[in-house]
Amino acid sequence: GSLPVANVQALAAASRDVPERYIRPEAGAHPGFADCGVDIPVIDFSRFLDPDSSRDESSKLHLACQNWGFFQLINHTVPKEVIEKMKLDVREFFQLPLEEKRQLAQVTGDVQGYGQLFVVSKDQKLDWADVLYLNTQPAPERCLRFWPTQPLTFRQACRRTLKNLADRLLEIMAKNLELNPDVVTDKFKVGIQSIRFNYYPPCPQADKVLGFSQHSDADLITLVLQVNQVQGLQIKRSGEWFPVMPLPGAFIVNVGDIFEILSNGRYKSIEHRVVVNTERERLSIATFHSPQSHAMIGPLQELVRGSGARYKTVNHEDFMKLFFSSKLDGKSFLDRMRY
Ligand code: SIN
Ligand code: FE2
Repeated sequence: GSLPVANVQALAAASRDVPERYIRPEAGAHPGFADCGVDIPVIDFSRFLDPDSSRDESSKLHLACQNWGFFQLINHTVPKEVIEKMKLDVREFFQLPLEEKRQLAQVTGDVQGYGQLFVVSKDQKLDWADVLYLNTQPAPERCLRFWPTQPLTFRQACRRTLKNLADRLLEIMAKNLELNPDVVTDKFKVGIQSIRFNYYPPCPQADKVLGFSQHSDADLITLVLQVNQVQGLQIKRSGEWFPVMPLPGAFIVNVGDIFEILSNGRYKSIEHRVVVNTERERLSIATFHSPQSHAMIGPLQELVRGSGARYKTVNHEDFMKLFFSSKLDGKSFLDRMRY
């Protein structure tokens, strides 16, 4: 697990001085906020379900994965009521008194619970956010002692996962790479899912802190639901940071490091980060999808032919241990897997 750090929500409420540990020299190097965003590709999930449009949409998805690594998913079949309820529950959870949330505080040796992740040294810079991180799939990996009991429906939302949607997307992505079905069953199926609920309080020195350090995700694919319409997510493109603003109700989907490795770099896992706001809090829910824990993570034979393997092959469990014991630093973790 992480080293224990201050609760940011409490810090934000208490004073107008931002502690030095949150001040990031690199934070200001972004072009600005909402008005200079990029329009990442929009993928319409309902078009995969219609034989007349599915080929077209698959090609679009292929280009989105290849050229962007990020896309918005609309008409994703997750009912609006489910999404809205989840958003309400998350807000309600973060509004609980600190003592109540602390009941779910992280413990030594586990990444789950309420607190902060990737804090590995006493002098490292910190993110301006509080998070609740839970393993949600497979069911035996659920550690209910970290699951909120309030609001009552919160646990239900965590169980009603997006696993099926992620599996459907992975299936189409694997087909786009012309992978053989055995590989797909073994490595492009969701074995593990975890959810990270993010609370980014407003910050009086918003342009000097980061809500989420620059990183790429150590999974196959991530689906992010933005809870309120406050801009914050930025993606790196041609060396510059660009804000992304999701359409209401859409999921922001991104290709993760494991996908990049398996595909031998055909699809890239893109660096991203979160900036915060002086006035408004921001909340989001990120769901991470990975293969089962004993899967070997390495370039697929069929994609290595001709070009050679660009990444090492490692056991998934070791890969994750290493990930959680490192500081988030752009793609430096993935770089360690490269030849
Ligand atoms: C992320 O999970 O990297 C981004 C989450 C967010 O948009 O708040
Ligand atoms: Fe991420």
